[in-house]
Amino acid sequence: MDFKDNVVILTGASSGIGEAMAHQLAEQGACLVLAARNTVKLEAVAEACRARGGRALAVPTDVIDEAECRALIERAVAEYGRIDTLINNAGLSMWMKLADVEDLSTLEYLMRVNYFGSLYCTYYALPYLKKTRGRIVGIASVAARTGVPTRTGYSASKHALVGFLESLRIEVEDDGISVTISYPDFVGSGMHTRSLGADGQPLGHNPLQLDKVMTSDECARLTLAGAAARRRQVVMSTRSRVGQWLKLIAPGQVDKIAKNAIKKGR
Ligand SMILES: NC(=O)c1ccc[n+]([C@@H]2O[C@H](COP(=O)([O-])OP(=O)(O)OC[C@H]3O[C@@H](n4cnc5c(N)ncnc54)[C@H](OP(=O)(O)O)[C@@H]3O)[C@@H](O)[C@H]2O)c1
Repeated sequence: MDFKDNVVILTGASSGIGEAMAHQLAEQGACLVLAARNTVKLEAVAEACRARGGRALAVPTDVIDEAECRALIERAVAEYGRIDTLINNAGLSMWMKLADVEDLSTLEYLMRVNYFGSLYCTYYALPYLKKTRGRIVGIASVAARTGVPTRTGYSASKHALVGFLESLRIEVEDDGISVTISYPDFVGSGMHTRSLGADGQPLGHNPLQLDKVMTSDECARLTLAGAAARRRQVVMSTRSRVGQWLKLIAPGQVDKIAKNAIKKGR
């Protein structure tokens, strides 16, 4: 029950890993502020959280909008009087080679959601997190540690997120704020169906072998355990644990693993 009465702002709470984290936090008795764009789904998650014993407030937010991120933080403080944890989870992916991209604004959009959205929320939450010696959590990806084909813009945005959070960790250490970065491998959420294709539109189907990848529940559980323990990072799959060492001595092998993973969807 690490998050009992903990005031948690969670972006991307309307589906997938975010929804699973919301449920698990509610079961621990957290005071949740849930953010995403889809109001209907967000309200349904908030309702499910209340049914599980947590407090939950849904705040429709598009994280690419700085003013909306600021309003999200202020709404959380108005409701609960403080912020203990910020989980930057909202994100979007792509599934296309750079040469096939029809309009580069698609890649700019990924950067706005995956990097700038986290930057805005973190910046406005920081003064409050200093008061509570709180936690910042970022949901990155294995694509934040190494290159992955069909993910140029996504991988770049997640590398940016990691660079930002790793620098911030050093800045806020003396304030007692922890920064935990989670690096999921493939997770069987709806993200891949929503991944942007060459025309900038959602793919509309999930190329993953869903029975062979981690569930959103498991990913949420590992991430929250790492955040509770104030760990620097949560690396989830064996291949990414091995990969971080292999990359130092045989980076070409890591490229092959990434290529194979995309080919097989697992
Ligand atoms: N699934 C994987 O294989 C995988 C692997 C590694 C890392 N991750 C990361 O895990 C995180 C969660 O992804 P997921 O797999 O759970 O995908 P998901 O099911 O598609 O959930 C993504 C969440 O982000 C929200 N979101 C997207 N754009 C947003 C915006 N502009 N403003 C506010 N919210 C926005 C979505 O809600 P709305 O559409 O309602 O706004 C949704 O709640 C992401 O950061 C993703 O990059 C996923």
